Amino acid sequence: MSRPQPTPQVVKLPQNWQPDSWRAFNAAQQPVYPDADALSRTLDELHSLPPLVTSWEILSLRQQLAEAAEGKRFLLQGGDCCENFAYCRPDIITNRLKVLLQMSLVLVHALRMPVVRVGRFAGQYAKPRSSDMEVRGGIELPSYRGDIVNGPEFNSEARIPDPERMISAHSRSGLTINFVRSLIDGGFADLHHPENWDLSWVTHSPLADEYHRIVGGIADAMRFMETLSGEPAHNLDRVDFFTSHEALLLPYEQALTRQVPRQWGWFNLGTHFPWIGMRTAALDGAHVEYFRGIRNPIAVKVGPTMSVDHLLRLLEVLNPDNEAGRLTLIHRMGAQSIAEKLPPLLEAVKREGARVLWICDPMHGNTENSSNGYKTRRFGNIRGEIEDAFDLHAAAGTRLGGIHLELTGEDVTECTGGARDLTDVDLERAYHSTVDPRLNYEQALETAMLIGRKYQQLGQPSAR
Ligand code: PEP
Ligand code: CO
Repeated sequence: MSRPQPTPQVVKLPQNWQPDSWRAFNAAQQPVYPDADALSRTLDELHSLPPLVTSWEILSLRQQLAEAAEGKRFLLQGGDCCENFAYCRPDIITNRLKVLLQMSLVLVHALRMPVVRVGRFAGQYAKPRSSDMEVRGGIELPSYRGDIVNGPEFNSEARIPDPERMISAHSRSGLTINFVRSLIDGGFADLHHPENWDLSWVTHSPLADEYHRIVGGIADAMRFMETLSGEPAHNLDRVDFFTSHEALLLPYEQALTRQVPRQWGWFNLGTHFPWIGMRTAALDGAHVEYFRGIRNPIAVKVGPTMSVDHLLRLLEVLNPDNEAGRLTLIHRMGAQSIAEKLPPLLEAVKREGARVLWICDPMHGNTENSSNGYKTRRFGNIRGEIEDAFDLHAAAGTRLGGIHLELTGEDVTECTGGARDLTDVDLERAYHSTVDPRLNYEQALETAMLIGRKYQQLGQPSAR
């Protein structure tokens, strides 16, 4: 990626903001660490460790997101609901990368535009919980808040928040991002060799034929271009890959918030693209305070309970100068609610002339319990929400510029339906998620294909 020029000095700095100014606000979803000295020592150590990403990567992503908002790119954001320390393994990282690369290939082919690839990984370790405490068999313990905070095992030792876990999360994020960068720099994402991305069981998938037709079409087009120009097509041997996570655990985020030479302001250098979850989007809350001061592109989850007024005030606080690429809104309404809840928000944001990128998370509004007690999502609802989202944006004259998914490259059975028509009984076979159910490899690929079909059906929303 080309390195952006330093931006001029004296830009409007956020008023009365410091990396720790959030501490004067109510911070939802934070653990209570029993040992304040240990916490403070750990944060000092974290603050002295190298960052995970650079400001120029962050600014390059911000530019790409601005282009996505204009209909020149499409954002694919995906990964686990909750990364576990145990997922920091080469096979898991590679498989997740493969799925995202395959999906992006399908999208590039159908949408005829570049795809911005953003993983929900290398830092997606903190989880919001509906209750601070969990009760099992009459015993009450603090809830599991993700591996960056405590352990999932139901015993009092595991559930005590341990600041050292922030150091482990930082290290594992670094290991993950380093491996992804090495794979990509080593040619893993080379479009001339998409066979690198095949998972072993792709050949048995009902979707394999369609996928291989797409790959074949792209290979033909590349050979044609190379024959015409008489030289290999450049820039097809590597791709940009960015990271994102919910910036929930504010002491951790603060420790990775840094200034860099020849740039003004502050960057969260723990990820390229942090987002605010639905449960921490209060206007007077600590998360909104923290986010308003960093220069990263940021996103906010927008659920069915968000009012027009709340959303418009968030836009004012988080993007006061209406800068392109700064703010992404991730709507996650649920298949049942989207037709009622989304249009007033689209209308209001359009009326304000706010420059935002709208993307759809069809996962979090569609969680339900299966007949045999699993937290699951039905592929039909996920599909329904995506298709409705495209239609509702088209009707409102706004643009759906991306998709946010929980997925894995593993052969899990956590969501039902899809090409293999998984049932509730199949959930018993390979349910591994410790938090939300993810699309498996085939369901993820199928989702990319259905987005491609829907997009083509609607014509070119970018021309609207
Ligand atoms: C999530 O993305 O895992 C999440 C908790 O989402 P939301 O804030 O939309 O509920
Ligand atoms: Co989730």
